[in-house]
Amino acid sequence: MSQSNVWTHKGTFILAAVGSAVGLGNLWRFPYMIGENGGGAFILVYALTVLFVGIPILMAETLIGRSGRKSPILAMTELTKSHNTSPAWQVIGWMGALAALLILSFYSVIAGWSVHFGLVEFSGRLSGADAASIGAVFSGLLDNPLLLMLYHTIFMLASAVIVGLGIHKGLEKGLRILMPLLFVMLLMILAYGVVFGEIGQAASYLFSFKLSELSLQGWLAAMGQAFFSLSLGLGAIMAYGAYMPSRESISRSAITIAIADTGVAIIAGLAIFSLVFAAGQETAAGPGLMFVTLPIAFADIPFGSLFGGLFFILVFVAALSSSISLIEPVAAYLVERFSLSRMQAVGAMAFVAWLLGILTVLSFNLWAESSVFHALFGKSAFDSIDFLASNILLPLGGVLIALFAGWALTREEVQRELGTNPTWYSLWQISVRYVAPVAVLYIFIRGIGLVSGDIWPLIIALGFMLSFVGGRSLWLKNS
Ligand code: PFF
Repeated sequence: MSQSNVWTHKGTFILAAVGSAVGLGNLWRFPYMIGENGGGAFILVYALTVLFVGIPILMAETLIGRSGRKSPILAMTELTKSHNTSPAWQVIGWMGALAALLILSFYSVIAGWSVHFGLVEFSGRLSGADAASIGAVFSGLLDNPLLLMLYHTIFMLASAVIVGLGIHKGLEKGLRILMPLLFVMLLMILAYGVVFGEIGQAASYLFSFKLSELSLQGWLAAMGQAFFSLSLGLGAIMAYGAYMPSRESISRSAITIAIADTGVAIIAGLAIFSLVFAAGQETAAGPGLMFVTLPIAFADIPFGSLFGGLFFILVFVAALSSSISLIEPVAAYLVERFSLSRMQAVGAMAFVAWLLGILTVLSFNLWAESSVFHALFGKSAFDSIDFLASNILLPLGGVLIALFAGWALTREEVQRELGTNPTWYSLWQISVRYVAPVAVLYIFIRGIGLVSGDIWPLIIALGFMLSFVGGRSLWLKNS
């Protein structure tokens, strides 16, 4: 790879990866999942997952990206050849591309809602409005497929333009504007929450826990959320890692990214819940937390329209810095493989995701109650796509990435990338070889209800691990 495909500035990798990680997952999904899954108990499990599973896999992904120096699909193709492993590992790249497409399709629709709410908040229409009429703004939006399509289109175009302009003029330049903006707005919202909200109540809600409140589903949800929030398992971080200068430390970057991502989620949670409590609202509103409960709170509190509008710009910016990382891995592949121009490649990816997004748009109106998805999976198209991508493809992608990095790459290679401290190396290796795969598989098998009970999923996860290690000559040597 020529030098032109390496980030120009030191620290751009961290900026880009944090941009990818911080998004709707932190501002929208994390707070409502806390509300649905027992407050602090959810945060505890979440934090443990980030520490023991998230960070090691984040490092593994960056490592593979930087040693491959290509788009995830081609990097995996080359690594399987150069390491003489089974070609089956290439599924990592393909599954990742599919997950990116699926996530981008609904991500763009939901990010689009923030455009609507930003406009409505700034118009001052909601100031002093009652809960029913604010609820009607949200349901009115969801009931209107054309309006949803309009916002979905605006968001997709904005993302495509940034990626289309290229690694330096588009991504790097865009991120250097978006990210500082994001942090300034986040701090303003937090300050607003501290001044006008019930920050103490929010903190005790977030940081006190009863483990009994955490269900089996809660564990799966926390894991799915950790993968989603850290942008793991689909190659986004791998694609950015491919542009990372060789001298930058992967382990330090991974820890910084995880801390920043979790920190933003917690700050967002604090700010949102302190306003929600101040307005005497419920915490367990589900996905409507940000689009109904929070606007109700803004309607009640001084300068609500102004800060409400600001909050939704924050959501838009955070979502934009994430969606570009969903386009990049697939677009980079299309450029490398088919020699398309960058604009053509980005256009193709964005267009297919835009089309798929129609399924999500319809999930909130014409297909809200019944559709083929309800008949097949018992949930709407949006919920099915989200479940398939976040709870199945990302964790499975993560397990495969961990196993590949842990077993297929050589010690010298890994130490060249990660540094030579033997203790850190061993810790990382134990995580990606055993801890992360078994933990993810266990929760995954339990959570999707493949078998029932507590013991069987563990036996299956351990059985997989044993047969993987026992049969590794099959997977690691392609003779
Ligand atoms: N991490 C993003 C968020 O929390 O909103 C979502 C995301 C972006 C997931 C990029 C996966 C990805 F590759």
